Amino acid sequence: MKWVVCIGVFWILSTSIAHAAIDICSLKPKDLPLEPVCIYRNPDIPDNQEDPTKIPEKIPGSTNPRVWELSKANGRFALSLFKQLSKGKSEDANIFMSPLSISTAFAMTKLGACNSTLEQIMKVFEFDTIKEKTSDQVHFFFAKLNCRLYRKTHNSVELVSANRLFGEKTFEFNENYQNISEMVYGAKLMPLNFKEKPEASRQIINEWISEKTNHRINNTLPEGSIDVNSILVLVNTIYFKGQWKHKFNRRNSMESKFHISKTHSCLVQMMYQENTYHYGHFPEDKVQVLEMFYSGEGISMMIVLPDKDTKLAEVEENLTLKKLSGWLNDTKTKQVAVHFPRFRIEDNFSLKEKLHSMGLHDIFSAEDASLPGLVANNQNDLYVSDAFHKAFLEVNEEGSEAAAATTLLFVGRSLNPNREVFVADRPFLLFIRETTINTLIFAGRVADPCSGR
Ligand SMILES: *[C@@H]1O[C@H](CO)[C@@H](O)[C@H](O)[C@H]1NC(C)=O
Ligand SMILES: *[C@@H]1O[C@H](CO)[C@@H](O)[C@H](O)[C@H]1NC(C)=O
Ligand SMILES: *[C@@H]1O[C@H](CO)[C@@H](O)[C@H](O)[C@H]1NC(C)=O
Ligand SMILES: *[C@@H]1O[C@H](CO)[C@@H](O)[C@H](O)[C@H]1NC(C)=O
Ligand SMILES: *[C@@H]1O[C@H](CO)[C@@H](O)[C@H](O)[C@H]1NC(C)=O
Ligand SMILES: *[C@@H]1O[C@H](CO)[C@@H](O)[C@H](O)[C@H]1NC(C)=O
Repeated sequence: MKWVVCIGVFWILSTSIAHAAIDICSLKPKDLPLEPVCIYRNPDIPDNQEDPTKIPEKIPGSTNPRVWELSKANGRFALSLFKQLSKGKSEDANIFMSPLSISTAFAMTKLGACNSTLEQIMKVFEFDTIKEKTSDQVHFFFAKLNCRLYRKTHNSVELVSANRLFGEKTFEFNENYQNISEMVYGAKLMPLNFKEKPEASRQIINEWISEKTNHRINNTLPEGSIDVNSILVLVNTIYFKGQWKHKFNRRNSMESKFHISKTHSCLVQMMYQENTYHYGHFPEDKVQVLEMFYSGEGISMMIVLPDKDTKLAEVEENLTLKKLSGWLNDTKTKQVAVHFPRFRIEDNFSLKEKLHSMGLHDIFSAEDASLPGLVANNQNDLYVSDAFHKAFLEVNEEGSEAAAATTLLFVGRSLNPNREVFVADRPFLLFIRETTINTLIFAGRVADPCSGR
């Protein structure tokens, strides 16, 4: 019995409309019958027993400490996966993904997983690094995290996640699983005829994803990914549109060289503006860090640019969540002259092989997978045949052409001797994050900004 997980992601910088949110947001854990079928606990993490020698970490105001833990677990997973992807690609290839949507999709499978299948999910996604109650109820805290992320509707920012289960219509799924999945992730089950019409089913799913991502993500499920043995397809999409808090003026953009590598360069439209940003230069790590906010302040793009003679690969190798958080903590509000390329990147990959290398084996194995909570009458022959991820990012001066007229904020190239200079004319890393709890919504490497046009 095959099951496919797919994740479509779209991200663009532009104007937008607000949207409505779900409401599991005001509930408490006890209000929801969310008992998972099986429980795994990391024997090395004592619950209710704080280490007295450890200085307690400062939790951001009005944040549920469990949500904060989950957010950090997601961040650690994000960087591990990023490194895994980086290993499989050449240094001049772009990477773009939404680690958050991948964690969300697998948290949904955790609900029905047992034995080593469950244990591996807990370990690979780092859910086992958080306290017991949180790890048992990780889906509940995902819902809370989502409330925090997706409720932040500002007129110029749109962040929407949509989830859905597509199941073979003759197959009986566990009703409790369906109920929880709908309540927590808003993922209702849609019955499809995989057995007789696998190709038509694939198209229905791809169209659903396309619609939920404003038609930016098409053909997520490649040909042949759905066949007569497919039983369940789990889809998670994220869609984001935002306007810079400080827009760039198109008149200041000009064609300029981007150095993909020492010997190879391409021409890109380089945007320019001088403004106040969070900025830091960290000579010991050989990077410059710049944080550019979107309107509404809740979401930002953090850019990590290696110093001129430092290879991005070297920075990637040493990257940890702690390091990233440390840089963010140490940036200062400064006047910065920013040169940043306009670009569009797209990335798609099968997660199966990547997650396999990270230790997630059983869920993908017809013999070893244990997902009894997903199906009715304790059948136990369901497994995940593959997981697809696709993501798209567009960055420009302010967004769509239609909004170009509203731009302003022209700031000339001043001669302020105290300003910092940030020239992103060589490969860099970027993270789009929720700023108060540092949730990494998207992560990417821009090595070749010229390839997407
Ligand atoms: C978990 O594993 C044990 C022993 O390997 C087995 O007896 C049991 O049926 C498994 N449980 C589930 C729900 O797969
Ligand atoms: C699932 O939800 C339906 C409709 O809300 C309800 O009738 C049913 O009892 C629920 N099933 C379980 C197992 O909770
Ligand atoms: C996706 O397909 C739709 C409809 O066929 C099309 O309008 C849109 O441009 C496509 N999107 C991309 C990113 O190719
Ligand atoms: C990465 O770590 C290695 C070993 O700790 C160190 O030699 C190197 O300078 C570091 N590179 C960067 C860019 O921080
Ligand atoms: C954050 O910065 C403050 C002051 O700049 C410093 O005291 C604190 O130790 C830093 N925290 C972390 C986690 O780096
Ligand atoms: C995924 O990307 C590869 C190139 O990396 C491309 O050849 C392939 O067509 C893409 N697949 C889909 C489904 O977009």
